[in-house]
Amino acid sequence: VAADRISSGPLLTEVVRVALPTPDGTFEVRAFESPTGHVYLALLHGDVAGREEVLTRLHSECLTGDALGSLRCDCGVQLRLALRRIAAEERGVLIYATGQEGRGIGLVNKLRAYVEQDAGHDTIDANLRLGLPVDGRNYDAAAAVLIRLGVGSVRLLTNNPDKVRRLRDAGIDVAVVEPLATAPHVRNTEYLRTKEERLGHVRPARFDTSALLGEVRPHTDRPYVVLKFAQTLDGRIATATGDAKWISGEAERRVSHGLRAACDGVLVGVGTVLQDDPLLTVRLVPGASPQRVVLDSTLRIPPAAQVLGPEAATAVVTTPRSAPARRGELKERGVQVHVVPATPAGVDLPATLSTLRGGGAETLLVEGGAKVITSMLAAGLVDRLVVGLASTIIGQGTEAVGSLGITSVADGIRLVGRSVHLVDDDVLLAWDVAPARR
Ligand SMILES: NC(=O)c1ccc[n+]([C@@H]2O[C@H](COP(=O)([O-])OP(=O)(O)OC[C@H]3O[C@@H](n4cnc5c(N)ncnc54)[C@H](OP(=O)(O)O)[C@@H]3O)[C@@H](O)[C@H]2O)c1
Repeated sequence: VAADRISSGPLLTEVVRVALPTPDGTFEVRAFESPTGHVYLALLHGDVAGREEVLTRLHSECLTGDALGSLRCDCGVQLRLALRRIAAEERGVLIYATGQEGRGIGLVNKLRAYVEQDAGHDTIDANLRLGLPVDGRNYDAAAAVLIRLGVGSVRLLTNNPDKVRRLRDAGIDVAVVEPLATAPHVRNTEYLRTKEERLGHVRPARFDTSALLGEVRPHTDRPYVVLKFAQTLDGRIATATGDAKWISGEAERRVSHGLRAACDGVLVGVGTVLQDDPLLTVRLVPGASPQRVVLDSTLRIPPAAQVLGPEAATAVVTTPRSAPARRGELKERGVQVHVVPATPAGVDLPATLSTLRGGGAETLLVEGGAKVITSMLAAGLVDRLVVGLASTIIGQGTEAVGSLGITSVADGIRLVGRSVHLVDDDVLLAWDVAPARR
């Protein structure tokens, strides 16, 4: 029987019910108004009344993360993942709590707290410095919604132990707690670490790529550059016919997607687009897709290339040698086009990286083929090297690195601070690239 009140809990009024089709499935939305004027949306899939262990997410509104895709937090990724999990299970509920911005401090105060964070304070101290609570949320109304929906007990998707305690205190039978692991971005790693260390949250360990990324130090004139490729045990990144799908196993590729999710940009040359037609999005882990960057001095990129699709932002870096009409066509599709000086290898790399840095990119993952790998290493523009060593041998094929003009081993690019990761039968190796010796 639906209860209007739970113990001393708030009175809720159900104000509307309607179907809401989303890319994650069609949900029945039931809107409840609390006496404070805040609206709680219950996004329902399947029948939950009288059911036990209903997959449930209680999601606090985060305009910047949910709607704008801000990388300061992982709220948007958690929201999408929770909706997807519920749709896949064909039964469950996500309660979207408005008025709970910034753990209950409101949108403007949350933005003010970001200013404090930019001055070096963590997410907790930032609130305290502003005289605001660390967590001002109240879960009573959300609990009342669950009771009104007739949910018997819940399997709660959360990393937050306090949410579990407080829902239990409000009379909800939390039968199971399931962590909602996301692939963190470099920009929210500290925020997640603070929540883990100071608020006891569960860490998204499965997708944590920070050991591979090393210590991220963006430069003033270019992003922190991570060069990543997968090669066979005999040192090939593709067969003699150009096939590279897939050199490494699925587990290694999942880590690669985690690396993409951690970075602001993922860069390839047009050769890789023409040969592989990659999407370059984050699909194998729950994370945000970075901006995709294609180096293409004459705009050979086919209009139908997947990398130009709407799944993520894309920038094409070209030279004065490309046709202005082609640049215009790309811009009309929402693709950024940067024109930089031409060099014999293609686009001028320092100018390219400086342009990307000017656009806000702090971390760049380079996933290009042999030509881009070679150019980046030759120009001394790589901070970190990550190599997936795949458990296969293919004989003749494309070598990862072409000529660097090095004639003496002593002049080789030195790699330091080795880090090793085992992923199924593959091995991931990462090093810092040591500064060139003079
Ligand atoms: N195993 C792996 O990890 C992996 C990863 C990626 C690719 N691949 C394989 O690598 C092969 C593609 O190799 P690729 O060497 O053609 O691809 P790429 O290095 O990604 O692209 C090379 C092209 O990028 C353009 N470019 C623009 N500026 C450049 C610059 N400064 N330096 C270098 N290139 C620049 C050039 O074309 P323009 O002169 O027209 O601008 C150049 O031909 C494919 O077989 C693919 O499957 C393997």
